[in-house]
Amino acid sequence: MSLARPIAYLAGVGASAPEGRLTNADLERTLDTNDEWIVERTGIRERRIARRDEPLLEYTLRAARQAMERAGVTAEQIDGIIFATVTPDRRLPSAACDLQSALGAKKAWAFDLVAACPGWVYAISAAEGMMAAGLGDTILVVGAEKLSTITDFSDRSTAILFGDGAGAGILRRGAEGSDRGVLATYLGADGDLAELLYIPAGGSAEPLTPEIVQEKRHLMRMAGREVFKAAVLAMSRSTDEALRRAGLPPGSIDLLIPHQANLRIIEATAKHAGIPMEKVMVNLDQYGNTSSASIPLAVAQAEAEGRLKPGMIVMLVAFGAGFTWGSVVIRW
Ligand SMILES: CC(C)(COP(=O)(O)OP(=O)(O)OC[C@H]1O[C@@H](n2cnc3c(N)ncnc32)[C@H](O)[C@@H]1OP(=O)(O)O)[C@@H](O)C(=O)NCCC(=O)NCCS
Repeated sequence: MSLARPIAYLAGVGASAPEGRLTNADLERTLDTNDEWIVERTGIRERRIARRDEPLLEYTLRAARQAMERAGVTAEQIDGIIFATVTPDRRLPSAACDLQSALGAKKAWAFDLVAACPGWVYAISAAEGMMAAGLGDTILVVGAEKLSTITDFSDRSTAILFGDGAGAGILRRGAEGSDRGVLATYLGADGDLAELLYIPAGGSAEPLTPEIVQEKRHLMRMAGREVFKAAVLAMSRSTDEALRRAGLPPGSIDLLIPHQANLRIIEATAKHAGIPMEKVMVNLDQYGNTSSASIPLAVAQAEAEGRLKPGMIVMLVAFGAGFTWGSVVIRW
């Protein structure tokens, strides 16, 4: 069954990241790597890294408050909170409940969503669906990570890629007859490929022990080349599929805001979609891959730079561990 869209639009987006910076030059001091290699193979120049005692909630709150301010929404008006993350401050209760309490969003339901890098894209889709089901008119959709807690800083193939950050958006029910908002969504997953990008232990199957920590099996492991190929394929297909679902012809994207994993993945996705790089938002040079925070960080920056104008067709597209992927087409 399809819905009469648009139902929901992004009324405000906010972003925040820890102050701490980790540059390629910093990594050169501890790893057998160099700035030239990292920039050429990934496009990344620096990442933000939270202090050990700086909880995810701290910078997520800043992002959420900024989104609320830009949307003109108070905590009392929020009906629900979806918090996409793979690095919550604690396992119980959810990061969403901690955020609900910190904001004083008393009437909001709240839950976490685990979908790795496409987390925010999944969360927008979930929020839109819940809105259609009558579960609210104003939903806070968060994508935030403290990936530095699951990164192996002795592994040069992953340590160079990841960073910390938070993004948030207020998704609101649109006015009757408005053509502004989410036009189409597309989500996918392939759990058969889980072990190409995963954390081997530390969950319920193999609870944390000193041995696991010693062997660093509580940290991310990745088969970079395989992930790269799968990412290009999934991001390209997701872009095509969301456009098709929106009933829009190829070439109608005004701004592509892709997951910021690797500049070469972004370039390949844009090339496949026939989009020149001038119409692609890129900020991974400053943040690296921040998983579910990556797209909202890029959306907030695009808005701050005046690159988002009313009526524009905006495509969000992401890929990540799972594997998971997804895309959202928005008339801004
Ligand atoms: C990780 C990634 C940057 C590696 O780039 P690549 O071009 O695929 O490089 P390869 O893995 O083929 O390695 C090429 C060589 O560089 C070396 N290398 C790997 N990391 C390096 C680093 N940080 N610095 C210097 N050399 C490095 C490898 O050891 C290899 O050396 P060898 O040829 O002597 O064996 C790339 O595969 C990638 O970005 N993959 C996708 C990762 C991703 O986006 N994950 C998150 C998805 S949400």
